[in-house]
Amino acid sequence: MTRRIDIVEVGPRDGLQNDPANLTTSQKLELIERLTACGVKRMESGSFVSPKAVPKMADSAEVFAGLDRSKPVRHIALALNEKGVRRAVDAKADEINFVLVAGEGFGKRNQGMSPQDSADMLMQCAPLVHEAGIPLSATISVAFGDPYDGDIADGVVGGLAAQAQRAGVGEVGLGDTIGVADPWLVERRLEEVQMYAPDVFLRVHFHDTRNTGLANVAAAVKAGVDVVDASCGGIGGCPFAPQATGNVATEDVVYMLERAGFDTGIDLDEMIRTANWLEGVLGHPIASSLTKAGKFPA
Ligand code: COA
Ligand code: ZN
Repeated sequence: MTRRIDIVEVGPRDGLQNDPANLTTSQKLELIERLTACGVKRMESGSFVSPKAVPKMADSAEVFAGLDRSKPVRHIALALNEKGVRRAVDAKADEINFVLVAGEGFGKRNQGMSPQDSADMLMQCAPLVHEAGIPLSATISVAFGDPYDGDIADGVVGGLAAQAQRAGVGEVGLGDTIGVADPWLVERRLEEVQMYAPDVFLRVHFHDTRNTGLANVAAAVKAGVDVVDASCGGIGGCPFAPQATGNVATEDVVYMLERAGFDTGIDLDEMIRTANWLEGVLGHPIASSLTKAGKFPA
């Protein structure tokens, strides 16, 4: 039987939050609609954070209000604190993805929290999400390295994952926010999380800042991870991480996985067309390889 790898499309959130272009709400909704037509079933469609911190996500409530709910897509809202969780519940998010942070330096700048503060905040917010009957996931950001503090000590990510499990989080994503992971570190971190939090499903979130993104995806899939974050066109980055670049491009990940015999449920031709369209809307070149080289065999 073909093994299925699910792609979580993060372009409308991680992608657009840091892009120089300012898309209107209706352009964001068109992107979401086009991604849905590509076969995307789970998508980060916005984030409920401070509009002062991330102005490009200030219209997330309007984006959620404008979604076509007749389509079988799970729209994920990002939240980092109680106000964000309440706003995401009000917006009728299909899933709330809470952001934990593995590094002190990045945590302070990104969300004004230490790693333990972020875990405490999750403990405080989780009951609200459970009460609303909304699936709760969490992403541990800078899980492979912090732009200000360097390497993350062994056990930190596992400890956060264990607290997430206790909070009733169903799936934990390991985020390489600044693109410093390598395939061997990926394997080690995944083993650590499986040991500390054996009951959560795993997801990975790689940025391709140092050309290791696809290798890291391959390592994670080989280690048994079935869910991979990616952004159409490879757009994205974090406003609080210097030199941050985009996520692994969805079309590149889909190409690699399907070429290797996995099923992603994504229409690759349509995803390449969407990335090309997005490049035009953003008005600057995008990082993806498949939009340049095309697929093989053609
Ligand atoms: N949505 C909207 N506004 C929010 C908010 C939220 N989730 N959380 C806080 N605010 C507002 C408060 O209402 C307050 O507004 P005011 O100045 O008009 O009174 C202001 O932000 C400060 O509130 P405070 O609770 O002190 O938050 P903070 O300044 O410690 O900031 C975060 C905490 C998490 C809200 C902020 O750091 C943030 O939004 N970071 C975003 C990081 C991000 O999205 N990174 C990329 C993805 S990981
Ligand atoms: Zn990211």
